Amino acid sequence: MPLDVEAIRSDFPILGRMLPNGKKLVYFDNAATSQKPKCVIDSMSRYYEEYNSNAHRANHTLADEATSALENARSVISEFFGTSPDQMIYTSGATEAINLVSYGWARENLSEGDVIVLTEMEHHADIVPWQQLSKEKGVEVRYVPIDTDSFTLDMDAFEIAAQDAALVCVVPTSNVLGARHAVE
Ligand SMILES: Cc1ncc(COP(=O)(O)O)c(C=O)c1O
Repeated sequence: MPLDVEAIRSDFPILGRMLPNGKKLVYFDNAATSQKPKCVIDSMSRYYEEYNSNAHRANHTLADEATSALENARSVISEFFGTSPDQMIYTSGATEAINLVSYGWARENLSEGDVIVLTEMEHHADIVPWQQLSKEKGVEVRYVPIDTDSFTLDMDAFEIAAQDAALVCVVPTSNVLGARHAVE
């Protein structure tokens, strides 16, 4: 089925606005701040208007409703990613999530000589935490190069680099180059 761009755009109220230069808004900076479709905006408004409270930390109606909504969202998202709800952790964004892995798992489990594989396409949110760890613990950071003809990863280099790696960090789709990787 062809992608119905107008139908998708119509889900996002912000895409209906005109810019000061008289042009329609086209927005690509989703990795930094994603725009919200109407159903999400409505759901956020409903939360603040009807049951804004502390999930898992009180014994009253609003808190029960907030807890159910939070946990229901966790189930829906984990199903989307093919994982279980107890493996689904909310964070404020990519930088916090990657630092959580770096501070919560890697500092406990990696030591000098262990190898972390990155690619030359990673955003610095997926580079700096590993450089810091490398400085602190002596782990080795390897970068998989980009094939400069196709602007995709050099998969032969990837196979070799990943062979004895303790951790592989790779962007599924690069928002700089548009390259998509078969992370499965
Ligand atoms: C490709 C990419 N990854 C990660 C980030 C960092 O994301 P966050 O603000 O969620 O930490 C950005 C932010 O611009 C980004 O463009």
